[in-house]
Amino acid sequence: MIIVIANWKSNGSLPAIGEWCGEMVDKFPQIHIDKPGCQVCVCPPHIFISEFADKLGSLVQQPASGFALGSQDLSPYAMGAYTGEVNAQMLKEFFGSYAILGHSERRTLFGENSTALSQKVKQSFASDITPIFCVGETAGEREKISDVLDEQLEPLLQELKHRPDAKAIVAYEPVWAIGTGQAATPKVANEAHLLIKDKLAKIELTNSIKVVYGGSVTADNAKDFTGMPDIDGLLVGGASLKADSLLQIVQNVQNMQNMQNLV
Ligand code: PGA
Repeated sequence: MIIVIANWKSNGSLPAIGEWCGEMVDKFPQIHIDKPGCQVCVCPPHIFISEFADKLGSLVQQPASGFALGSQDLSPYAMGAYTGEVNAQMLKEFFGSYAILGHSERRTLFGENSTALSQKVKQSFASDITPIFCVGETAGEREKISDVLDEQLEPLLQELKHRPDAKAIVAYEPVWAIGTGQAATPKVANEAHLLIKDKLAKIELTNSIKVVYGGSVTADNAKDFTGMPDIDGLLVGGASLKADSLLQIVQNVQNMQNMQNLV
């Protein structure tokens, strides 16, 4: 099952959310019934999560709908005196089941480091929230991509060793492809995914971990990525803000899935 994750970043307004959710509620269930090969997860800014939960209603309350809600970050702490933080238990109250962790924007602009990320992964596992753990090299790091991925994956892998039952997703997002309109080629992305899967295999995890690609994904290129053998889904920023554009991505991915199943 392919997963398409919508990362709204710091975007959105109440009217825009009303329109987006209205269109999803109208159209997604039928699209999912017709071709169930693709699930969707939307990750809005924290302050809008309750609005999404309310407007999406049964879509996010019933796991079988193929639609899920998540956040873009999570507190490294549980409930308590941590001013400004939104914790995993709170996210659960609004049917949240995923959390993007370690996005490159958080690593570079907000100083997110491995220590904080270990704690965040721990908190998400404790509340049965699936971390969408982001990794990816800058343009200048292309030559040493394997070392960069090793270092970035470390907090996730350490926690997974203690939680063989936990679910997790790794998002490969080369920094040079995020928001630039310069997506990686499917071949380059697939090579990085293979590298990540080899690293996961080395520590003999029993968990089933999807590896998804992010960075300038559009309705035009989406199926070229998910058509690759080691790309299990997509993390979509800009192209997820309009419902019709995200639904087009989902449909293009489903069509590709169907074609591959026929071969
Ligand atoms: P983009 O963002 O699709 O706008 O490049 C992806 C991301 O940063 O998750």
